[in-house]
Amino acid sequence: MRPDDLLTLGDVTRRSGFAASALRFYERGGLISATRTAGGQRRYERSVLRRLAFIRAARNIGLSLDEVRDALDTLPGGRTPTKADWARLSKAWSARLDAQIRALRALRDGLDSCIGCGCLSLRHCAMSNPSDVAGTRGVGAVYLPRPLTEEHRH
Ligand code: FES
Repeated sequence: MRPDDLLTLGDVTRRSGFAASALRFYERGGLISATRTAGGQRRYERSVLRRLAFIRAARNIGLSLDEVRDALDTLPGGRTPTKADWARLSKAWSARLDAQIRALRALRDGLDSCIGCGCLSLRHCAMSNPSDVAGTRGVGAVYLPRPLTEEHRH
């Protein structure tokens, strides 16, 4: 491949909408790759744009970075996702979105019962403890429905 076919960091940030820091982060995490010029500047193959679009879609669905990496690792030779790859992987994520929608509905229903109450009881509030699970999940954001407490952001 001629060097002219490669994209600079600026090209990729402009065309993908990702910040340079995000691209460096994804490269450190092994989700994308870049070569270096003699001067140490990053150069990307054009296929990185499709890979980044895939990463953004997966993150919007709520996949963690590890899950995105696992999905990309299912592609032979670590190739960029094709239309068929996307169809297969996104189908598997549909159930996940359904679970998230159910969890959000549960939160909304809990909020309805909170309006005009104000107790915010960790034991009895339908919003702060939607499934009456206080004390059963350990520390942290234990009162949210599980699909909304999984680690989505890095
Ligand atoms: S604020 Fe009282 S039930 Fe939520």
